[in-house]
Amino acid sequence: MKSSPDAPSPAPVDDDRRRKRILVVDDELSIRRVLTAMLTREGYRCDAAASGPEAVRRLEEETYELVVTDMRMPGMDGLELLAWCSKNMPGMPVIIITAHGTVDSAVEALKLGAFDYITKPFEQDELHMVIAKALAREEASHRALHEDEAGRFAIIGRTPSMKQVYTLIEKVADSPTTVLISGESGTGKELVARALHDSSRRRDAPFVQVNCGAIPDNLFESELFGYERGAFTGAVSSKPGRFELADGGTIFLDEVGELPLDLQVKLLRVLQDGTFERVGGLRSLHADVRVVAATNRDLLAEVRNGRFREDLFYRLNVIPIRLPPLRDRTEDIPLLVEHFLRKFNDRLGKQVRGVTPEAMAALMAHRWPGNIRELENLMERSVLLADGDMLGPQDLPGLGTELFDDAVGAEGDIEELGLKDYVRVYTARLERARIQRALEQEGGNVTRASRRLGISRKSLQTKMKEYGLRDPPDPPATGDA
Ligand SMILES: Nc1ncnc2c1ncn2[C@@H]1O[C@H](COP(=O)(O)OP(=O)(O)OP(=O)(O)O)[C@@H](O)[C@H]1O
Ligand SMILES: [Mg+2]
Repeated sequence: MKSSPDAPSPAPVDDDRRRKRILVVDDELSIRRVLTAMLTREGYRCDAAASGPEAVRRLEEETYELVVTDMRMPGMDGLELLAWCSKNMPGMPVIIITAHGTVDSAVEALKLGAFDYITKPFEQDELHMVIAKALAREEASHRALHEDEAGRFAIIGRTPSMKQVYTLIEKVADSPTTVLISGESGTGKELVARALHDSSRRRDAPFVQVNCGAIPDNLFESELFGYERGAFTGAVSSKPGRFELADGGTIFLDEVGELPLDLQVKLLRVLQDGTFERVGGLRSLHADVRVVAATNRDLLAEVRNGRFREDLFYRLNVIPIRLPPLRDRTEDIPLLVEHFLRKFNDRLGKQVRGVTPEAMAALMAHRWPGNIRELENLMERSVLLADGDMLGPQDLPGLGTELFDDAVGAEGDIEELGLKDYVRVYTARLERARIQRALEQEGGNVTRASRRLGISRKSLQTKMKEYGLRDPPDPPATGDA
């Protein structure tokens, strides 16, 4: 067959990444041509290799979901290639094409782990069926492998500390007791709250989230407990609160540590006896609600310094789940990176295959103050901006020493100073950068930034003045998610 004029029209680029990659191996050019044309027409991405060694080279360089290989080839034959694949690419299906009448070696191939074989001459439909089946199995086994190896409940992580979390979720999902999830910002508290709900018998009932830090004090009661018509100006009709809405399900009290003391009392009562009244209502209401709370503060410390009610703390903290910061489970970073690469490749239509060893080293060494959220954001930005198919250190801004370089100024204008002055200026610039970052992280909220920095609001304001960082207006109150 001469080069065919009816080359298959390329699929739209956007669709490209969804297409499975198949490697066709045959020493005969005409067969390679027919097979690639056929498979490309069916929507696969298809490459061809003319020999076993060439196939191995390609498999080492690229990612394929499937190999279709001829049995009889000079040098390395189909069975040898199959053996190499089973050893080096376990789980990737291999389909063998045999000449008519060589059933013995076909059986041998199956024993060696081939997914299936087809005999020449074959129908296009037959090939199509076998390939579809093989790819379906590949996908299922990939998913299963990923699910129990990478984590559980859509939570990625397999360090002992995370496994403990999974065990706890499983154990307590169906109990009615209150759970308090604690952990630094971005460690996955919300994910755990949802996992608790989704793996409980309540999963078909509502999961109602309350962001305790975002509800204005004067609206707290009416938001949580609802109100009756005429309870206050503007209450033209009655409205159920979040507790009522969550009846039969779960209420998630996020950022419970942000709740002012007077509102803590109100929450305590509903937790104690499960009853509440709508604002302006006389009837006592009861809701069957599972309470899950989360905080990124050390609530016990808050209790000690009088900012959090002790009785409420014990009421919430019946079952504590602590999420480790990412820097304490760096072994999970490669898994998380893989997870987010897949997610953002899919979402952004990119094909980033991985990160270079240098980049991985930088990822492992970083402190991750923003934990998994920080990693997730970094991966999203890097995948979006990536030119090549591997992310190198230059694709991961903000890691390593960049914080320091930014802080002291890239010009290195202080190199000439004596040591004492050098250290003074350097640390001052670092301090300024850290404060600026904390303010950004807290959306300009000075009180929260001062907590994050572990200094008083007053001394933060003094430093802001000193460094010429303006006290920005507090962001407008937003409704919660
Ligand atoms: N173990 C994990 N596996 C996969 N994704 C995760 C994991 N932990 C967190 N994430 C992702 O990181 C982001 C932040 O997680 P989440 O909102 O649950 O954190 P949080 O602890 O509630 O943070 P905050 O205290 O700031 O509210 C989310 O997009 C979440 O999907
Ligand atoms: Mg959260």
